[in-house]
Amino acid sequence: MPRGLFITLEGLDGSGKTTQIKRLAAWMSRRGLPVAQTRQPGGTGLGDHIRAILLDSRSTDVAPMAEMALMFADRAQAIAEVIRPALDAGTMVLCDRFTDSTEAYQGGGRQLGSEVVLELHRLICGNLQPDLTLLLLPGFEVSLARARRRNDRVEQQTGASEGRFEQEQDDFYHRVWQKYREIAARDTGRVVLIEGDLTIDDVHEQIVEAVAERLVLFDQKA
Ligand code: TMP
Repeated sequence: MPRGLFITLEGLDGSGKTTQIKRLAAWMSRRGLPVAQTRQPGGTGLGDHIRAILLDSRSTDVAPMAEMALMFADRAQAIAEVIRPALDAGTMVLCDRFTDSTEAYQGGGRQLGSEVVLELHRLICGNLQPDLTLLLLPGFEVSLARARRRNDRVEQQTGASEGRFEQEQDDFYHRVWQKYREIAARDTGRVVLIEGDLTIDDVHEQIVEAVAERLVLFDQKA
């Protein structure tokens, strides 16, 4: 049985990943493809605990290295429990954030650099690479405005429970945004950059186009 395709969605907070992942999953299901959806941090029992610690604004003074280690602990569990078994069973896996998020947020935002993130990815994640990464990245001003709007909503809905990253300053988000652009420029074969202030429908269309292309290659390999 051919391994399923591993597709990740990336972008700043408020980039619309969650909406797009749902629409993509529905599109794939309509075509009779088996699909599993997950997200990071979270998506497993252990991961949900880790997510709660990481996003809770009452978790103060978290050292950047500790934050990164928790992201990788979450990821190791998700790979073992959800991602690898699904791929091995021929299921398509759609994952809301993966190691590019750690490179952008901890490597870029927290200024730990890319090298340590990529090295940990090799050691902890067996260097598992997505077949396709859809990076939703409008210009910085638009990205920031959306992130702030989304943060206000999150704060109203969850109070302190998911607000820790939302409290970061604009320069933190600028470093994250810039690191994402670096990743897109480096990994051109894997990352499809979806830029511009597009409508939800336009983004969906671009996503479907990129996925359809990969599915053709996937069918040829099968
Ligand atoms: P989410 O709300 O898109 O699920 O993301 C949760 C937050 O966690 C978001 O602000 C980005 C952050 N994050 C990291 O800083 N590093 C990571 O490796 C991941 C997966 C998420």
